[in-house]
Amino acid sequence: MSALFEPFKLKDVTLRNRIAIPPMCQYNAVDGVINDWHHVHLAGLARGGAGLVIVEATGVSPEGRITPGCTGLWNDEQAAAFVPVVASIKAAGAVPGIQIGHAGRRASANRPWEGDDHIAAGDPRGWATIAPSAIPFGAHLPQVPKAMTLDDIERVREDFVAAAKRAREAGFEWLELHFAHGYLAQSFFSTHSNQRDDAYGGSLENRSRFLLETLAAVRKVWPEHLPLTARFGVIEYDGRDEETLAESIELVKNLKREGLDMLSVSVGFSTPTADIPWAPAFLAPIAERVRKEAGLPVASAWGIDTPELADRAISNGHLDLVMVGRAHLADPHWPYHAARKLGIERPSWTLPAPYAHWLERYAVA
Ligand SMILES: Cc1cc2nc3c(=O)[nH]c(=O)nc-3n(C[C@H](O)[C@H](O)[C@H](O)COP(=O)(O)O)c2cc1C
Repeated sequence: MSALFEPFKLKDVTLRNRIAIPPMCQYNAVDGVINDWHHVHLAGLARGGAGLVIVEATGVSPEGRITPGCTGLWNDEQAAAFVPVVASIKAAGAVPGIQIGHAGRRASANRPWEGDDHIAAGDPRGWATIAPSAIPFGAHLPQVPKAMTLDDIERVREDFVAAAKRAREAGFEWLELHFAHGYLAQSFFSTHSNQRDDAYGGSLENRSRFLLETLAAVRKVWPEHLPLTARFGVIEYDGRDEETLAESIELVKNLKREGLDMLSVSVGFSTPTADIPWAPAFLAPIAERVRKEAGLPVASAWGIDTPELADRAISNGHLDLVMVGRAHLADPHWPYHAARKLGIERPSWTLPAPYAHWLERYAVA
């Protein structure tokens, strides 16, 4: 048996294998409410055989969405719309997860294929953004965010708590806090975006505070028996990588103390001038360092898109879970094809019986 196809247990949840679908925004919700497209997209991916399907970055408030088309969990209508999708993911044998977040200074953006930049000032589709400090992201995201007051910080934390409760009510069994990718939480941690001189800026302890308080508050309402995870950029590739990694590992140890069960290791994306060494599975060794030094299970994505790379990342101990994103968009049955490629004798077990029976009988590739 390949390591990739061994089950994975975290808290009371068991995934049928080590393959996870990472959150992938679809940008076509209306007022944060998901629609038939999300249903087809998510249930289709679950049917393909992955152990875990994580729903896209879902805003904890309207201003926390990346684009006007992003999903939300700030009202009951949004939560109710997720219920049948959660049921479909489960019916397909996968565990339903969701990522909740606040986009901070990267919010109020156009969709990637419409520019990926800020919605122009004066356009009624856009909104005012907030961040730790009044520092814009860069040339393509020039809007100057409002520096958050202490009241703003408390309000956003409570928005995370309310969204986590709604996620549970909708039936999700795995919660991922979006602390990565230059969005609000990551921007509290990074000195590229945080120049506060109060308890939320300056020292590592202060820059960690928003993330730790948010995690701790969510942990109180998210059931203890279900996984509470986060995605966080542990490295920026900005020339200060050793220092950032050491600080990140310290943060992760503290998050673990507050109840974090697993980290999805990613890149910070806090500055547009980063020089990221894109290559297949380039983050996996860094994830392994986090796993060893912080002492908790890790997942990661970014170019782990062949069965061999994915299997190796698990068997050599780099990762506990492999996030396979874009390759799943191209081939929703990626796990089935991966099993075949890895020489697993009866790969059809990755599929439900009505598919498996006929594929085996006719030896369909
Ligand atoms: C269409 C699309 C939407 C994405 N949306 C999100 C998101 O909502 N949250 C997130 O953390 N990452 C998001 N990402 C990043 C993916 O989760 C993943 O990290 C990335 O695609 C790299 O993995 P891959 O090489 O397997 O595709 C998105 C990526 C794509 C392609």
